[in-house]
Amino acid sequence: MSQPHRALHLVARPEGELRDDVLELRTGALHDLADGQLRVATRYVSIDPAMRIWMTEQKSYWPPVELGAVMRAQAIGEVVESRNAKFPVGAWVSGMLGVQDGLVSDGKGLKAFDPKALPDPAWALSAFGATGLTAYFGLTDIGKIQSGETVVVSAAAGAVGSSAVQIAKYLGCRVVGIAGGPDKCAFVKDTLGADAVIDYKLGDVGKALTAACPDGIDVYFDNVGGEILDAVLKRLRMHARIVLCGGISQYGAGKDARGPANYLSLISARGRMEGFVIIDYMDRVDEALAALGKMAMAGKLTSKIDVIEGLENYPEALRRVLSGKNFGKQLLKV
Ligand SMILES: NC(=O)c1ccc[n+]([C@@H]2O[C@H](COP(=O)([O-])OP(=O)(O)OC[C@H]3O[C@@H](n4cnc5c(N)ncnc54)[C@H](OP(=O)(O)O)[C@@H]3O)[C@@H](O)[C@H]2O)c1
Repeated sequence: MSQPHRALHLVARPEGELRDDVLELRTGALHDLADGQLRVATRYVSIDPAMRIWMTEQKSYWPPVELGAVMRAQAIGEVVESRNAKFPVGAWVSGMLGVQDGLVSDGKGLKAFDPKALPDPAWALSAFGATGLTAYFGLTDIGKIQSGETVVVSAAAGAVGSSAVQIAKYLGCRVVGIAGGPDKCAFVKDTLGADAVIDYKLGDVGKALTAACPDGIDVYFDNVGGEILDAVLKRLRMHARIVLCGGISQYGAGKDARGPANYLSLISARGRMEGFVIIDYMDRVDEALAALGKMAMAGKLTSKIDVIEGLENYPEALRRVLSGKNFGKQLLKV
């Protein structure tokens, strides 16, 4: 018997502030299962800043979402009907499920996980999902952090940033977090354990960085780009590494996106600035999960989740992340 289905389709390319009407909620039905297929009921959709880029025709590591297609999203869900022995009813899976309440799949691209091994199934999209893996490989593989180094993390109260602060601390670094507002700054220092924190909304980030990092910066884990990246570039130590994880301050800027003015400092510092995308690390997931699991067992890894509910609230969920209203990993509960 076919099942009712709701999905959010991209129907226009956004310009400037993300408006509700670039997406359309369409209802329909999922077809009956053929042999080898399963039906997944979506539980949580991951809200990622890069979605703002995927909606446009901007070049990125994934092609633009086509107009009329279901909006691309990573999500987790439960198998509620199955004719595929690998994914029995009751199994939890993660994958690019899209912004929809369910789907029929042949299992390709889905990964089963045990929700009981996590404090909450939603952690499969935060500390133990692409978010935590991004922080881990960004710091260890691109940043090559060493114990005793000074590591600065921007958007430090956010999903990737909060994992990055905790991992860098765990690996013996001195960590300075940058975040917006007193509540987020208190969280970065008191809960995540950063050695110092800078509220960039209070003004002169450069001056605050000089005070927090008097001997300069060894590694900068950049989530935001823009003026903060420029302020960091002026304060690099010899052989500094800048991990280009994201540049959220520029995601809505389109062709007006600005690059760093102070990049020449990399020459005298013999520094390196390198981008990376987490999808390139999928063959090393087990290595990261083992390290993150060890941290969690030692009580050194927490994950703050920020949930809003209802497919129709997806545009608002994404606006929250782009404007900094989210506090922790933003998820949409379906
Ligand atoms: N390379 C990869 O493979 C990869 C994978 C995942 C994510 N990312 C990137 O990682 C970054 C963080 O993503 P996330 O999912 O963890 O989101 P998040 O940090 O949970 O949320 C985004 C945060 O960015 C901050 N922000 C927004 N506009 C800003 C601005 N103009 N200047 C400074 N800060 C601003 C806000 O925090 P405040 O309130 O503190 O301003 C907001 O809460 C993004 O750039 C994302 O694209 C990269």
